[in-house]
Amino acid sequence: MKATTFQRTGIVLLLIGIVYGMHMGISQDFTYAPAHAHLNLVGGVLMFVAGLFYASRPDIPARAVTVHYVLHAPGAVLLTAGIYGSVSGRTWAEPVVGTGAVLVLLAMLVFAFNVFRSERAR
Ligand code: HEM
Repeated sequence: MKATTFQRTGIVLLLIGIVYGMHMGISQDFTYAPAHAHLNLVGGVLMFVAGLFYASRPDIPARAVTVHYVLHAPGAVLLTAGIYGSVSGRTWAEPVVGTGAVLVLLAMLVFAFNVFRSERAR
């Protein structure tokens, strides 16, 4: 997994979140602001920051970057969808938001592990 995959996923999620934010502003309906906020921050900002970090640490094994990605990307999407469903009172929302939250937590634990890895000489 490449650092640029994190950055590209992050920027796509951020663009979707921003367009939705503009929709909220135009319609003056802020009901789903928490979904917008989590897509932008967990999906957009955190994925892009992780991409910058992995670009600066090419010594971190590709497999460790992949493990972070496969937890983070679906986690951000499920968390956002679950928050959206929860705010709109959907019965399916609870397991979705829970799964998304656990995936994001696991992704951040892997990220923390990667951040604390000692830097190998390049
Ligand atoms: C053109 C870009 C954006 C537009 C038009 C926009 C629009 C909005 C609107 C209308 C709200 C609801 C305000 C309210 O409840 O009174 C909101 C909330 C929020 N936005 Fe954005 N936003 C944009 C970009 C971003 C970005 C880039 C981030 C983070 C990286 C972000 C994070 C948040 C957060 C944290 C909230 C508060 C959510 C809450 O109260 O539950 N927004 N935004």
